[in-house]
Amino acid sequence: MTSPQHEETIFTWGAPPLKFGAGAAYEIGFDMAGLGVRRVLVVTDPGVNACGAPSRIADALRLYDIEAEVFDGVHVEPTDDSMTKAVEYARAQGDWDGFVAVGGGSAIDTAKAINLLTSHPGELMDYVNKPIGGAKTPPGPLKPLVAVPTTAGTGSESTAMCILDILSMKVKSGISHWRLRPTLAVVDPLLTMSLPPEVTAASGMDIVCHAVESYTARWYATFEAKKPEERVTYCGANPVSDLWCEKAMSLIARSFRTAVHHGADDVAARTDIMMAATFAGMGFGNSGVHIPHANAYPIAGMVRDYRPAGYPQDESMVPHGQSVSLTAPETFRFTFDAAPERHLRAAELLDPRADKANDQREQLPSVLVALMRDVGIPNGIGGVGYTEADVADLVPGTMKQQRLLATCAKTPTEDDIAAILTRSVQNW
Ligand SMILES: NC(=O)c1ccc[n+]([C@@H]2O[C@H](COP(=O)([O-])OP(=O)(O)OC[C@H]3O[C@@H](n4cnc5c(N)ncnc54)[C@H](O)[C@@H]3O)[C@@H](O)[C@H]2O)c1
Ligand SMILES: [Zn+2]
Repeated sequence: MTSPQHEETIFTWGAPPLKFGAGAAYEIGFDMAGLGVRRVLVVTDPGVNACGAPSRIADALRLYDIEAEVFDGVHVEPTDDSMTKAVEYARAQGDWDGFVAVGGGSAIDTAKAINLLTSHPGELMDYVNKPIGGAKTPPGPLKPLVAVPTTAGTGSESTAMCILDILSMKVKSGISHWRLRPTLAVVDPLLTMSLPPEVTAASGMDIVCHAVESYTARWYATFEAKKPEERVTYCGANPVSDLWCEKAMSLIARSFRTAVHHGADDVAARTDIMMAATFAGMGFGNSGVHIPHANAYPIAGMVRDYRPAGYPQDESMVPHGQSVSLTAPETFRFTFDAAPERHLRAAELLDPRADKANDQREQLPSVLVALMRDVGIPNGIGGVGYTEADVADLVPGTMKQQRLLATCAKTPTEDDIAAILTRSVQNW
């Protein structure tokens, strides 16, 4: 990391208004009516639709004289192809004056793309981040979007980010702009009672990674000072993001294992983890994430024949929450020197009762490995089908994620990434 010539003095923080708690999902008619919305598309995936929440929410909208239709064509871990089809559907059935996303990150991100491309002209790739897309800026405001997460993980209900798989290039990329942030986040923990344990585990590890990566990210003031028009969504670790992430880690410590193993009937544990996801989203959504998330892009993008339990079985996939956690223990050995006290504090928050490791560098990795074993995450990138021989092919996919790598407190070289991936073939 090079020292800036002119130190940044400013950080930014943003999040949509939040309505949190049991039953919140059925008040959206009131909220949407207040925004003057008359015709709404409810965006979801087939698995979530089968649980019934999207049609119940559509019924609740109709009570406020809002015309509501359910679209369940979201692809789990959306692709350029699936998002384009969803946009074409919405454009063909237009005009909509608002959207409600009901689902995990897949549904919420697809709804963000639909909202962008039914509010403004152009195609998906025009807006996708460079160098993969044209990085066009949304030319004006978007329509109201209410995001209703049904997983406890991505925090997408409060972030300004939309992630997709670019099939032809075997890479993941995204669109990031503050205008993509939902108008309102409605977080109702009861919607997660039906989540299978495997999805609870993977999306919960996404929360852990959001919180710890944000907490160990490069400090905002160590960046080169920016002009107002150059400000980016992710500005590095800062005092406000830290607060959210610390609290998220404590909630994980209290309830993550219970939510995975007793999720069908433990409302208190589900509520804690939903709150952890929301809090971590409010943290990393402004500060950023780094190496584990950058590695996740090729790990997910280059999957061969791994089909995880608990997810749709029709295609191979490495779920986002698994892919981000597989290289986390080794990453935090690598970044330890950049901020030892932050790594130790994160370990303490995630497991206040953990034995103290002789080597302080091992404290956070050992807490993470214990958690991953307890909730049933695969053992390293080997557990999802990669061997040491694949590392050279994975490295370029990570190096393309310069926006994320720039958020790391210790800038990794290609060799550093190769070493992290190699040591993550097995984590225990
Ligand atoms: N925009 C962001 O800020 C952001 C951040 C992190 C990840 N993501 C993206 O989010 C996606 C992953 O999202 P996710 O982890 O929330 O999972 P998901 O939306 O992909 O859903 C995972 C599976 O769980 C099922 N499911 C969801 N809720 C359920 C419920 N309540 N009951 C039963 N089944 C349910 C779905 O049908 C699906 O099969 C990835 O594409 C990832 O890249 C986005
Ligand atoms: Zn994530």
